[in-house]
Amino acid sequence: MKNASSQRILVLDFGSQYAQLIARRVREQHVYCEIVRHDVTPEQIRSHGPSGIILSGGPSSVYETESPKCDPGIFEMGLPVLGICYGMQLVCDHLGGKVDSTTTREYGRATCTLTGEDPFLKDFPETAEVWMSHGDQVQSVSDVFTPLAATDTCPVAAIKHNDLPVYGLQFHPEVTHSPQGHILLRNFLYEICGCDGTWKLSNFAAETIEKIKQQVGDARVICGLSGGVDSSVVAALLSKAIGEQLTCILVDNGLLRKNESAVVVEQFTDHFKSDLHVVQGQDLFLDALSGVTDPQEKRRRIGHTFIECFKAEADKVDDAQFLAQGTLYPDVIESGAAKDGPAATIKLHHNVGGLPEELGFDLIEPLRDLFKDEVRALGVELGLPEHLVWRHPFPGPGLAVRCLGEVTEQKLVVLREADAIVIEEIEKAGLYRETSQLFAVLLPVQSVGVMGDARTYENALVIRCVNTDDFMTADWSRLPYDVLATMSTRIINEVSGVNRVCYDISSKPPATIEWE
Ligand code: XMP
Repeated sequence: MKNASSQRILVLDFGSQYAQLIARRVREQHVYCEIVRHDVTPEQIRSHGPSGIILSGGPSSVYETESPKCDPGIFEMGLPVLGICYGMQLVCDHLGGKVDSTTTREYGRATCTLTGEDPFLKDFPETAEVWMSHGDQVQSVSDVFTPLAATDTCPVAAIKHNDLPVYGLQFHPEVTHSPQGHILLRNFLYEICGCDGTWKLSNFAAETIEKIKQQVGDARVICGLSGGVDSSVVAALLSKAIGEQLTCILVDNGLLRKNESAVVVEQFTDHFKSDLHVVQGQDLFLDALSGVTDPQEKRRRIGHTFIECFKAEADKVDDAQFLAQGTLYPDVIESGAAKDGPAATIKLHHNVGGLPEELGFDLIEPLRDLFKDEVRALGVELGLPEHLVWRHPFPGPGLAVRCLGEVTEQKLVVLREADAIVIEEIEKAGLYRETSQLFAVLLPVQSVGVMGDARTYENALVIRCVNTDDFMTADWSRLPYDVLATMSTRIINEVSGVNRVCYDISSKPPATIEWE
């Protein structure tokens, strides 16, 4: 998608866990950025019209024959190039330098001292803390390079080529552990690539709305609504673009949180002047889940039933030509640009709730260039309420994967009540925005308790609360004891069927966020 400023940076992905973070950091400097496979050809690069290229890090060693390489032709395009970590090692490997694994390997925090001068270093302090994350280092460079910085054990921590606009950093400027790293990225973008930093989300909203209008013309668009931030932002963009030509479909699968369907309908009618169809699918989903205990089978059946319900409702909408979906950039990278690339083995998430291509609609995916935090910012920009924009993510299969074992209506009632209490209490404590995901899990385990004079034998319930940036790794939230105590007391007193509450203190990995 072209943006107001057509300036853009391409990140070539060599399998770094940080490739997306680099792209985000570039966009934070108001320069548009995309991630592409590491082996793009110079022609493909030219077709994007970038102002510069960043070679990401990666876990490989350049001296191994199988390691991912870039087309050497990219160094002759006249475009500025910044190699980060493995990217710098590649630069040296191609243009003159010796890379080797190091015995005095520096991994983690290091102190970097400047040894040269260049516009790339403008405003960067003489010494700065930086983050190293590779077993290899450039040991020496030929005299086509000028070293710009060193650490105690790394003589060439930053370099520039003497004739080409090519730079390299052994450390990672994109991570927060390199607190001044953003200065180097900014210098690369503004001083070296000549970007003017005019990319903004507000341009993005206006341009996307315009683009949708042109793409859709007089046709009708269908949009699946889940109550989450992504589908709400898609609906907001479409509603602004085409108003009454939009039909939203909400499938109530009976696996939603307490009052969720009613809240979504209320928010929708408050904010949008478009058509909303609510499919009452609760019984169909419960039937489909009857007797099923295997988590993946639950997901499969829920996904299947969702498609069935959605399709039946979509068929009732006359002249629908387009289907709008809230696909985000990380999904695109997973399934497209970097597919089969070096990072392909890192699984992102279970894709339930997606709709198959066979539905026969033309797709509109207005968020496919954005990261989650950008989608939230866009939601605010479009006037969506803060509590909607900042909602914790909720999985497509909903409460079914939090109701361990077979899902029954009775278990869902218990879980829904307990879940509502934990959310209510975290909000009261003012901690909702400080945590990433919070929910209750109903265990198929009974334990003995005592209530009044009577002995009870009822279910155990778990509270799960995590903090995470990307949901690929997560740590359990250190919630205050008194907040946990209130949650526990309220659940045991108010939710019949639960006599024991536990708090999950496992991080991911090795545990996952959901229990199933
Ligand atoms: P895990 O449990 O894999 O979850 O650590 C990571 C994130 O993904 C969400 N999740 C799902 N989302 N369909 C979804 O749409 C699913 O089947 C699914 N399973 C897990 C989970 O809630 C967390 O945010």
